Amino acid sequence: PIKACIFDLDGVIVDTAKFHYLAWRRLAQELGFDFTEEDNERLKGVSRMDSLNILLEIGGVELDNAKKEELAKNKNEWYVELISEMDEKEILPGTTEFLTLLKEAGVKISLGSASKNAKMILKKINLLHMFDCIIDGTNISKAKPDPEVFLLGANALKVDPSECVVFEDAVSGVEAAISAGMYVIGIGTKETLHRANDVVGSLAEMTLDRLER
Ligand code: G6P
Ligand code: MG
Repeated sequence: PIKACIFDLDGVIVDTAKFHYLAWRRLAQELGFDFTEEDNERLKGVSRMDSLNILLEIGGVELDNAKKEELAKNKNEWYVELISEMDEKEILPGTTEFLTLLKEAGVKISLGSASKNAKMILKKINLLHMFDCIIDGTNISKAKPDPEVFLLGANALKVDPSECVVFEDAVSGVEAAISAGMYVIGIGTKETLHRANDVVGSLAEMTLDRLER
């Protein structure tokens, strides 16, 4: 039986991907190059500094570490400003319902996100109380596709990886879950997330039956 479900945050529980994209694009434009939505796919699930490095590579820009720290800080300030008005309306379809089903069934709920803004966001959308465990960008030393973020969650909940199901929208996150030895359900399309064990369009398609299968 499944003992725990581990959820990525951005793009799984809440629709923050568009705000990350706007903030990164603003940074790219200030540096003098364009940043498309297609480029943005590569940043999903990737930590803030790794994302900046990918962005700079796309723009063909080389900078020292001090400058990079400064740019990452700017990007985060814009992002935080963009999400400042965020509330329950930004929760993706089916999320609250599915989390409630899991709670009733006694399945543990954990967060496995690369974001350092995760707790603040869960508070804003009023879902923090649903989580038994939160592993986010402030707890991890290795970014997805490293399995660390998911293994720390299983460990904290005292469950075996084989008893966990991960929900992920990013290719790097699907890889991280596979490396952790967990069953992974992709949120998105089969084309992008072909390595996932199962793919749904959103959590609205999830049932306890589908989880156990
Ligand atoms: C998630 C998102 C990424 C984001 C990363 C770090 O994985 O999918 O787009 O860059 O978290 O988020 P943060 O809020 O710490 O900058
Ligand atoms: Mg994500």
